[in-house]
Amino acid sequence: MNFQRLLFVASLFIGSVCTSAAYGSSNPHLSADDCNVSGFTRYKMSAPKTDYEVKQQSDSAMQWMHDAKIGMFIHWGLYAGPARGEWNMNNKGIMPEEYRKLAYAESGDQYFDASLYNPKLWMDVARSMGARYTVLTTMHHDGYALFDSHYMNAFSSRQTLNRDLVREYVDACRNSGMRVGLYKTLINWRYPGYYDVTGTDCKPNKFGYTTAAWHKENARLMKEELYSDTRTLMTEYGKIDMMFWDGGWLAEQGGDRDAAYFWESYKYVEPDNQWQVNPYFLDRDEANGKWLGLIGMVRKHQPDILMNPRTGWIGDYTCDEGPKPVTGKIRERIQEKCLTIAGPWGYSPAMDDESKMISVGQLKRYLADCIVRGMNFLINVGPDRHGCIPEATSRHLAKFGSWVDGIAEAVYATSAGPWQPVDGKYGFCYKDNRIYIYLLGEYTSDQLALPAMDKGYRVRKAYALNGGYKVSVKQKGQMVTLGGLNPKKDDVEVIVLELNKNI
Ligand code: GLC
Repeated sequence: MNFQRLLFVASLFIGSVCTSAAYGSSNPHLSADDCNVSGFTRYKMSAPKTDYEVKQQSDSAMQWMHDAKIGMFIHWGLYAGPARGEWNMNNKGIMPEEYRKLAYAESGDQYFDASLYNPKLWMDVARSMGARYTVLTTMHHDGYALFDSHYMNAFSSRQTLNRDLVREYVDACRNSGMRVGLYKTLINWRYPGYYDVTGTDCKPNKFGYTTAAWHKENARLMKEELYSDTRTLMTEYGKIDMMFWDGGWLAEQGGDRDAAYFWESYKYVEPDNQWQVNPYFLDRDEANGKWLGLIGMVRKHQPDILMNPRTGWIGDYTCDEGPKPVTGKIRERIQEKCLTIAGPWGYSPAMDDESKMISVGQLKRYLADCIVRGMNFLINVGPDRHGCIPEATSRHLAKFGSWVDGIAEAVYATSAGPWQPVDGKYGFCYKDNRIYIYLLGEYTSDQLALPAMDKGYRVRKAYALNGGYKVSVKQKGQMVTLGGLNPKKDDVEVIVLELNKNI
């Protein structure tokens, strides 16, 4: 632990002792003045690390994500037709030749026709829920590309609808000022070799594949398709701000990093790799002529892109997936919480029914818990097979968005801190000369004793941001106690502290 971290941890400890001391309970020997070694901790992301020869992005490249806070995730693909989630092909062991019918009119009311697809309307939903970026599944594990894949074995919307759905999406993002995020999985269920990359040891699977020598070459082709598609996405759609990778594993086994040897999610490919990508699909590092691996290729074409860690490479930011409550300390780098509002990630009928969704109250709580920990919040929607985000979903998210709008100054471009959150009770973020206190729904007292401020700071004024009432302030040196709070059980309340100068 370096000195700065040590000081930080020490300050938290002292901060919490002071909090209870201010109530006069736990330690009668501690007075507020004893706390003056403590104070603010300014938010600072941990320094960029290098992994597989690629360095994480700098703070300045990460800044837009830090400021944006809210994103809209979009899971859309052939699976919208059957409406049983994006894992349906696998769950039911549907063979590729059967599954592909979803892309054609013969599948009737399950046909992915994209007939009402208008991504401008998606952007309206994103804006109304407070999102500043969106992330679209350009290809999920079923291997259907929403873009113009050039790979010889491609299966894409260009072929089945004569439309490049990703291009339409990217254009709509830019026209509406949204940062452009793409989701892409590494794996592909259209290739049996995915379960048997050595051709000698087929892993359990729902499709009934068993060990076969030709699987090794088949797995190599799957990898080659990934490289080909990645180059397409990174070179033909202009500036891409963010890449949300998924499926860095193999055969649904192990973690993302366990299969990096296969995907070569490195800066360079290895000359003796057993699954060599044909150089036709590779790019070189101009500096030394070496062939680039997956991450090297992405960075070459998109030097400012932000990536998650799901290829096995460390990632510029980290992920927290699923509905588990957000707890703990301020994160060392941006962490993105992602969850879906109802059922699976791909379209399901629950997305047409507000009563089946994560409530607006819960969404508020997730956002608050994210903001006070230096995290972003990526909320998933599942458009139907025609391309519409269900009405009920849009309505629901707009309610959340209008709350966000009312507290916008406590959301966008704020930094977590200057003190650590207390799970369930409260947490903080700040910007300029204001500290925003999020009361998280389990704090019921009308008073709050804050951890110590830095010397020389005074609270000029305190009030509830969205509740419109005044909050009383008692300040003694670095210690402040607020009074007259009116937190509602299980609801989020934001209190503003205006200070005499910037933090
Ligand atoms: C999970 C799901 C996958 C989804 C992803 C989104 O990994 O299995 O289908 O796309 O979450 O983060």
